[in-house]
Amino acid sequence: MYKNLIELFKENEGKGAVGAFNLHCFEMLPAMIKAAEEINVPIIIQTSLGTAEYIGFEPLIAAVKALAEKSTVSVALHMDHCKDIEKLKKAIDCGYSSVMYDGSSLPIEENIKNTKEVVAYAHERGVSVEGEVGSIGGAEEGVVVAKDDAMYTKPEDALYFATETGVDALAVSIGTTHGQYKSKAKINYELLIELKAKLGDTGLVLHGGTGVSDEDMKRCVREGMKKINVGTELNKSYIEVVNTTFPDATPLTSLRNLLGPANEKIKDIIIDKATLFKM
Ligand code: 13P
Repeated sequence: MYKNLIELFKENEGKGAVGAFNLHCFEMLPAMIKAAEEINVPIIIQTSLGTAEYIGFEPLIAAVKALAEKSTVSVALHMDHCKDIEKLKKAIDCGYSSVMYDGSSLPIEENIKNTKEVVAYAHERGVSVEGEVGSIGGAEEGVVVAKDDAMYTKPEDALYFATETGVDALAVSIGTTHGQYKSKAKINYELLIELKAKLGDTGLVLHGGTGVSDEDMKRCVREGMKKINVGTELNKSYIEVVNTTFPDATPLTSLRNLLGPANEKIKDIIIDKATLFKM
């Protein structure tokens, strides 16, 4: 079934966090949903605006909906980190079931004002919204937020933001960074516990899942994270596998034989991660 985040969180209540995995090209999609089906968990397929525009909003949404409708698990399609309100409205109109407005680089009052506009538009149309307070550093889609500009989320800001905007999910900065594939993140659990106590029902979201150890993943789930994002690890592994399959290809080698092993690889990674997210 095709669902939004509110529905997925409800369905997954008491069972852990829902995995949100970044899709970079069409080819990855069926393998991602198959992974969720193999271990019977809901899945969030998330894209950047860049990926949505590369594939095309309509074909992307049609494919996710078609796979979701015949799937044994619940699937959401979420727009990740978008700073452009008009593009978010387009995503909502075209059929994304969930969106993230990222106003984390703005002063908090401006972030609240913009997020509220997105929430009003989305909720009227049955679409869920994720916001962000504090700033998660690192590299995403080639855009780097310097470590010095990354800021821990202040619990009082998070509560104020969530109450004012009515977001369904909230990305918080507790020590992870995007694109950290060479080392492991150091998570501030004291802060996570305080955020959870303050925010209650708002679904906390962990970004930058690639640099998080298995132990930390499990603890983050126990401490109340509701959505966990993993992107770079899939992209990195996909590249590693196609680097081994493409060099020996001839013009008569079917591309499906070159991409198949990479799809299998990301399926295995999603199964491993989503298993860690179960409680
Ligand atoms: P990684 O690419 O570090 O796994 O982070 C993904 C993410 O948080 C997407 O918003």
